[in-house]
Amino acid sequence: MPANLREAWLLGSVEVPTRLVLAPMAGVSVQAFRRQGRRFGAGLVCSEMVSAAGIEHRNEKTFGYLRVASDEHPLAIQIFGAEPRAMADAARLVEAAGADVVDMNFGCPVRKVTKTGAGAHLMVDHELASRVVDAVASAVSVPVTVKMRRGVENGSRAFLELAPRLVAAGAQALTLHPRSAQQMYTGEADHALTAELVEAVDVPVIASGDITSREKALEVLETTGCAAVMVARGAQGNPWALREILEGGDFRPTREEVAAELIVFVREAVRELGEQRAVGFLKKFYGWYLGHGRFPKPFKQELVQLPTTEEVVTRLYAAAPGAAEIVERLEAELPAAEDEVLLDRLPISVYGGG
Ligand SMILES: Cc1cc2nc3c(=O)[nH]c(=O)nc-3n(C[C@H](O)[C@H](O)[C@H](O)COP(=O)(O)O)c2cc1C
Repeated sequence: MPANLREAWLLGSVEVPTRLVLAPMAGVSVQAFRRQGRRFGAGLVCSEMVSAAGIEHRNEKTFGYLRVASDEHPLAIQIFGAEPRAMADAARLVEAAGADVVDMNFGCPVRKVTKTGAGAHLMVDHELASRVVDAVASAVSVPVTVKMRRGVENGSRAFLELAPRLVAAGAQALTLHPRSAQQMYTGEADHALTAELVEAVDVPVIASGDITSREKALEVLETTGCAAVMVARGAQGNPWALREILEGGDFRPTREEVAAELIVFVREAVRELGEQRAVGFLKKFYGWYLGHGRFPKPFKQELVQLPTTEEVVTRLYAAAPGAAEIVERLEAELPAAEDEVLLDRLPISVYGGG
């Protein structure tokens, strides 16, 4: 029977309404990205990796990653670290912040992370990896999950040995990005390995890597038996790809729709990060949104040069006046800010104050 992307599935106790998951991406998966992903059909969205050490030290910027809005659910917040106690503490805070799932990062290949024993290093140290999962699973009542690579070295099959141990330690779903850490993002994701993982464990498996079309999504679902597929780079500045994958058909946006989504995204990013950080953060998004032949190249260059986001919004309206009506509709649909769980409203015992 052909796979059905619109079918709900269970991740532990959490019902996920579709088989499409929006990936965690550092420097990308802000709240604006996640809530847009939900709007375009992702059944589950995920925060970028959040440092357990940052949470432990009550780092203000780290806490900013834990802002959860009412229209994001179901939402996974991903944490990284190598110290079981710190990871358990971080997980408790993440649960209190409103996450439906606590995800752990065992795949980050960046040296700054692996040299601390975290990220992809945990694909090597299976004993520590199991203790981390055990500590996190024991600390919270929401489901906990792990996102892995195949291993560190090219050709590694470490995931296959590690996965059953993680499940025994309490992981209720596993995501596999079947590249080695050494590969970074080169070569192809080998989803034959995803099929092996599905065979090896009795929890849902989410397949990550090179899912950029409906055809590929269906192929991976059907050939691997995974519970869901995850989209990362394909959704950068392109939420329409999610809808296309989910529903089939041609959802290429008009210039007005592109401008409107970008304007809402810019405003949301400013609200979330503040103007100063948002200016730098947003630059990469201009290329992602305006590419695909949607706007002429020099227009992107122009936006990147503008010193304030207000000027960016003004310029976008000038280029696509019809966007105003769409922006108005999109903003009317956003939940009120009071619906957000903010950490300064958490009970003081959880917040760690005093
Ligand atoms: C810019 C960027 C940042 C990423 N950050 C994270 C992260 O914070 N946590 C994580 O588990 N994976 C992260 N990833 C990996 C993606 O979630 C995904 O597994 C990978 O990009 C393969 O999927 P794709 O081919 O759909 O891009 C990141 C990928 C990119 C491109």
